Amino acid sequence: MRVVHNSALGLCLALVVVGCKKPAPPAEPAPEASASAAPAAAAPEMPAGPHADEMKLAMLGAVPIPEDNPMSAEKTALGQQLFFDKRLSGDGSRACISCHLMADGTGGHDPLAIGAKNKQLTRHSPVMWNVGFLPKLYWDGRSDTLEAQGSAALAGGNMGVGKENLEAKAKELAKIPGYKKQFDKVFKGKGLTPETLVQALAAYERTLVCDDTAYDKYAKGDKAALNAEQKTGLELFMGKASCSTCHTPPYFSLAYMSKDAAFFNIGIGIKDKKEEDVDVGRMTVTKKDSDWAAFKPPTLRNITKSAPYFHDGSVPTLEAAVRFMASGGYKNKNQTPLLSDKKLSDDEIKSIIAFLGSLECQGELKEPKLP
Ligand code: HEC
Ligand code: HEC
Repeated sequence: MRVVHNSALGLCLALVVVGCKKPAPPAEPAPEASASAAPAAAAPEMPAGPHADEMKLAMLGAVPIPEDNPMSAEKTALGQQLFFDKRLSGDGSRACISCHLMADGTGGHDPLAIGAKNKQLTRHSPVMWNVGFLPKLYWDGRSDTLEAQGSAALAGGNMGVGKENLEAKAKELAKIPGYKKQFDKVFKGKGLTPETLVQALAAYERTLVCDDTAYDKYAKGDKAALNAEQKTGLELFMGKASCSTCHTPPYFSLAYMSKDAAFFNIGIGIKDKKEEDVDVGRMTVTKKDSDWAAFKPPTLRNITKSAPYFHDGSVPTLEAAVRFMASGGYKNKNQTPLLSDKKLSDDEIKSIIAFLGSLECQGELKEPKLP
């Protein structure tokens, strides 16, 4: 397991990296809340936690806003248009929303995404909710900001524009009178450039906050927000099954909780493959053997809606994904020691799945009118 800075210092550093806006309200859980998450992380074998109604549960703070890309209503509205606009792609076939669809929980539909020009990509599309909180983007954490990620999505196989064509794409979009007018207003003196294009997209993505699930209501004190089975599932999630070690509330992923994020090898994408064909994940970025085939734990918010699962989309149902995780993953040369067979009964698996149903996001990515 990588070092996790749960301290105020670590989280402060995390914010400094993206550039902290004035006294930005902390994006991390309240101190008493992170204290409750800590024992689970420190003691993965903890047999049974406190009763759900007695748990102090972490709540989401505010999304950190980088100093060089402040938010405004006009900018986020512009970003929303861009997110839905196929004219951003190389061949006019794809918009960002194409692979992050509401119908798929804002994750991908195809197990492995298919990019512009029908190019087969190597990974599954993750959900968009709460991406503004992520210190590192992508399954392997190779991007440090949403702005950088946006450029990569445009230039690379997803949108298929090509790095060398980003300037030309910006010029092409600036010919659309509506966009020209909006960019000139929102980015005074700059207008529509490859840089402002991804700044507007990132600003919109920072509005995609999911903090209104049944779990959130429960954490705020509405004890009726979860039913009895979901409460049992929550207790297992935080205790016996120790899912919260890596899917830590309130993000339901440890990857959101320190500037270095977090990556684990749980054994997905290895079985029946030659070693040289395995997607080595985090190791591509760090070149460290200890990161071989390690990926970030995705958020479990909206998980009931975002099938299929894992970085390669190889598991079609939530039940199969939960059973895989609870039984210790797939053994391999670099598997994390934090995963083991929890020997859960069918009823216990059912309760955990019921609890995951309490993480459904209420918001919607609404299609705007395009200029
Ligand atoms: C062809 C499908 C496709 C399109 C189009 C697409 N994406 Fe994605 N997106 C993906 C895949 C696949 C990943 C994960 C890739 C990886 O981890 O290597 C991803 C990852 C992301 C992430 C990182 C999320 C996380 O949890 O780390 C963000 C943010 C994102 N996309 C935003 C965008 C934006 C903005 C656009 C439009 C400019 C876009 N995507 C277009 C498929 C797509
Ligand atoms: C050691 C850390 C760790 C523990 C403990 C853990 N997970 Fe995971 N989980 C991960 C990682 C890492 C991934 C993504 C791996 C990949 O795609 O290669 C993941 C993926 C998942 C997914 C698929 C998510 C998606 O969007 O595709 C589900 C569902 C899931 N875990 C549920 C659970 C449950 C339920 C438990 C407890 C029984 C649990 N996990 C315990 C690290 C962990």
